[in-house]
Amino acid sequence: MSAAPVSVATLAAMKVRGERIACLTCYDASFARLLDASGVELLLVGDSLGMVLQGHATTVPVTMDQMVYHSACVSRARTRALVVADLPFLACATPERALDHAARLLQEGGAEVVKLEGGMPMLGTVERLSAQGVAVCAHLGLLPQSVHQLGGYRFQGRDHASAERIRHEALAMQDAGASLLVLECVPAALAEEIAGLLSIPVIGIGAGAGCDGQVLVLHDLLGLNPERAPRFSRDFLRGRGSIAEAIAAYVAAVRAGDFPGPDETPY
Ligand code: KIV
Repeated sequence: MSAAPVSVATLAAMKVRGERIACLTCYDASFARLLDASGVELLLVGDSLGMVLQGHATTVPVTMDQMVYHSACVSRARTRALVVADLPFLACATPERALDHAARLLQEGGAEVVKLEGGMPMLGTVERLSAQGVAVCAHLGLLPQSVHQLGGYRFQGRDHASAERIRHEALAMQDAGASLLVLECVPAALAEEIAGLLSIPVIGIGAGAGCDGQVLVLHDLLGLNPERAPRFSRDFLRGRGSIAEAIAAYVAAVRAGDFPGPDETPY
């Protein structure tokens, strides 16, 4: 593993070489140090912190101040990994609002990339941010911030029309300037096809092993949420002696294409 800091160019080169990218959510300095030392390329300061740290039922209550605070905790502790920070619910209601919030995540939070959820309505915002030199990670498929509109956390892209929409949105996000794409809870065949169509790295969660990389919520990987463990996650701590071993096993499984396996790929 090179000690050089990971950039979006590093990740693009990994995709070209066919090397899978390991990503985990991270919300504090202690885990940032551990994940960084374990070779995780991407630390995602996800708004999932609203659920796993704060105990909310959804990510909707998470505020910009909280995202800035946790991004700063993570970014000051890592030396190598790239920090991607979520723009929380309605932070991108207009492109100008998104620009102001992205500035906070980069300048106060120390993140290198901002992630935003949404398809075509977010296209102008991705263009605006990219034009200003902001590295953007798009997020398609299941959009947890829209849970009340969706009526639950359901797999997306399972019928022809919605698969076609997600495929179209993914290409549009790349054309608009996105540097990365997270695909959440879509069928494995669709995710693999999109990863093949795009030149930017596609990071999957609940999207099968055919993506360019994988992301999991750290607390799911550590089995801290057994009653509500997603079908696509794996408890990497089970049968291992330490958190460091669990993280190392996750990184190795992602690199080898062994995670997710068939039992962790519902569609
Ligand atoms: O907030 C988050 O942790 C995320 C991942 C689930 C991709 O967006």
